[in-house]
Amino acid sequence: MTSGLLLAFLVLLSLHVASCRVFAAEDPIPGPWPDSFFATLARNGTKADGAPTGTDVQAKYYDYSNRNAPLYRQDCSKNGITSTFLLLGKEGYIFTKASEACVHVTLPVAVVKPEWMQGGEYQGTEVVNNVPSNLWIKADHRYYESVTAPKRPTRVFTPFDQLGTAHQEDYGTFTEVQHTPGTFDIPAYCPAAPALLLLDTTPELAARGALSVARGLGATGGVGRAVDPAGCFI
Ligand SMILES: *[C@@H]1O[C@H](CO)[C@@H](O)[C@H](O)[C@H]1NC(C)=O
Repeated sequence: MTSGLLLAFLVLLSLHVASCRVFAAEDPIPGPWPDSFFATLARNGTKADGAPTGTDVQAKYYDYSNRNAPLYRQDCSKNGITSTFLLLGKEGYIFTKASEACVHVTLPVAVVKPEWMQGGEYQGTEVVNNVPSNLWIKADHRYYESVTAPKRPTRVFTPFDQLGTAHQEDYGTFTEVQHTPGTFDIPAYCPAAPALLLLDTTPELAARGALSVARGLGATGGVGRAVDPAGCFI
C-alpha cells in the first residue's frame, strides 16, 4: 500500500462527508475505552481480489494504563489452531505455543489509544447483531458502539491493510478488567527469535493493522506459517 493511495482514500472520505451531512454539537462521541479491558470477537474479511478470508475468533487483552508503555495481546484461532500477537510498546512478537516458533518485529507505533475513534464523524444508529449501536466513521474505519450502557464496541470495520484486505470484527464481549500477572509475558523462546524488517508502511497503516507490516518477509522466508499457523497475522 503506498501512501499516495492512502491519501486518496482520505481525500475521498472528506469530500463525501462534507457534501452530505452537517454535524451537530449534540452528536454523541465514542468511548473512550477503559484503560484495561478484555474482549472476544469474531473477525471475517475480504481480500483485494474479492475472496473471503474466512472467520477467525480472537481474544484481545489491552492495557493502556502506562501511556508510555501500552500492552496488547491478541490470541487468534482459526480451524482449531491459535497464533498470538504480543505488542509491548512498539516491540511486537508473533508466536505459537504449539511449536514454540516466534518472530520479533519493531513497529513505528504502539497499539491505538483508548480515545482513537474520537473525532470520527457521527452517522446515526444501526442495529448490529441485535444491539442498537451508534456509528462513527474516521479515516474509512467504521466504529459501532452500543447506544445504551454499558457502552462497548459492537463492530469495527477496517477498510484495508497493506495487502488490500478489509476486515470486520464483531464483538461478543468487552469487559473492563485488571489482567492477571503473566498475561503480557514474552515467551521464553522469543528473545532469540529472528527479527522481521518493516516493509513499506506508515504510522497510519501500522496503527490500523500493526500486524500487516510483517507479512511480506514472513511469507517469503517461510517463517510466517511456523509462527502463525492459524494464518491470522502474516
Ligand atoms: C463479513 O461477513 C458478513 C456476513 O457474511 C458480510 O456481510 C461482510 O461483508 C463481511 N465483511 C468483510 C469485510 O468481509
